[in-house]
Amino acid sequence: MSVKLSNGKTIPIEMHKVRIVQKARLAPVHDRLRAIEEGGYNTFLLRTRDVFMDMLTDSGTNAMSDNQLAAMMVSDDAYAGSESFYKLADAVREVFGLEYLLPVHQGRAAEHLLSKVFVKPGHAVPMNYHFTTTKAHFELAGGKVLEIFGEEALNTQSTDPFKGNLDPAKFEAVIREWGAERIPFVRMEATTNLIGGQPFSMANLRGVKEIASQHGIPLVLDASLISENAYFIHKREAGYATASIRGIIREMMSYADICYLSGRKSCSVRGGLIATNNKQYFEAIRPWLPVYEGFLTYGGMSAKEVEAMAVGIREMTELEVAGSSADLIEYFAGRLLESGVPVVTPPGGLACHVDATRFLPHIPQAEYPAGALAAAIYISSGIRSMERGTVSSDRDEAGNDVLSDLELARLAVPRRVYTISHVEYAVDRLTWLHAHRELVKGLTFVEEPPVLRFFFGRLQPIANWGADLAAAFEADFGPDC
Ligand code: F0G
Repeated sequence: MSVKLSNGKTIPIEMHKVRIVQKARLAPVHDRLRAIEEGGYNTFLLRTRDVFMDMLTDSGTNAMSDNQLAAMMVSDDAYAGSESFYKLADAVREVFGLEYLLPVHQGRAAEHLLSKVFVKPGHAVPMNYHFTTTKAHFELAGGKVLEIFGEEALNTQSTDPFKGNLDPAKFEAVIREWGAERIPFVRMEATTNLIGGQPFSMANLRGVKEIASQHGIPLVLDASLISENAYFIHKREAGYATASIRGIIREMMSYADICYLSGRKSCSVRGGLIATNNKQYFEAIRPWLPVYEGFLTYGGMSAKEVEAMAVGIREMTELEVAGSSADLIEYFAGRLLESGVPVVTPPGGLACHVDATRFLPHIPQAEYPAGALAAAIYISSGIRSMERGTVSSDRDEAGNDVLSDLELARLAVPRRVYTISHVEYAVDRLTWLHAHRELVKGLTFVEEPPVLRFFFGRLQPIANWGADLAAAFEADFGPDC
């Protein structure tokens, strides 16, 4: 929700009260320099005691509601036949309109099961854009990931409200080239994560479904961030201004043959699920569930999280819940733009994305500008963001870096966790960093894992720029900030 103030400005306003809090600590700049050095200039390797604002991700870190916490107290821990499962199944049926439910321990586990059952060597999986774990699983199964986004998707200075759309003409071309029999499904990702949390429109989803149906290709919806996508449809798409979030989600689901999600995002828990109305798909996946996840009625999740997920699925259909991060992100991005800091536009869901290519134009992609920016943001603020650029993309078979389409530092805005004063602090420190951007140089790998290297990879700063940046910060703000 946003409110208009008497000075004419609009600000996002919290439609909740904060009654449980977690203490935060702002480590001084020299402690931050030491922490990032110890963490190999990789924000994944920081300890949270050294992090002031944790904007690494919204995954599993959204604030839960009182009703979610209350539901956890009454969970049924039975190995089989747990009542908690039936409550989740009721919520999935009521909100999504989907009959068959397979809980899993998190989103990538759903991707693992889907790739195990559907993706074979020689297959192609078209999608609006990949997510890191999606691509890893589909490729490990022998499939090829084909991203068929529209013209504006990679434009970081765009006004296109639906940059997450899949290009229908390219989809038809892919079907002609590969043949429908080699396309196990088309995947649509809600609030497309890696291009800046950008939504697709309902019209686009409907169009993709029509093409897929003509060729007998199932549509798989990654609904991890579905309520945010529904919120953008409500705000941006003609004909949906008076539609409820629940109604929009229900219509989106009506086009999905299979839905899967990470429950760590829109649902504000830690878990995941696959759901479908197709009994055959359900029966094809079900045997693998106890092998990799757990029995059908918990799927590797704690029963407490299963209970909280049932509540979270209903709560995410409330307008003020669906829009709470999106509204703060819009404010955050707007304030950064006013200060001359290059951010991805239009602002999306899940995070405010800073464009490292424009922030640090002097760093070539081979020296990982987004990784350098994430480390520099941490040194100058204690804010932990995430690299979403070439470090997040693994090398090709010949061992060459695969240069990423975009170089972004992602400042995630977990739901109901941070306030406008936190955002103002972030804006101030990013503005300071932008004025001192020449001090920041690139990174090189010191230790590099072969798969999803961004998680555990260790890097070092070219010409030890981290120390120069910390010294400049201390000169301006003193040693205690
Ligand atoms: N799909 C999307 C769109 C995601 O954003 C994620 C995770 C997954 C699948 C995998 O789910 O983490 O529960 O296994 N995104 C997190 C992030 C990790 O930080 O954006 P998971």
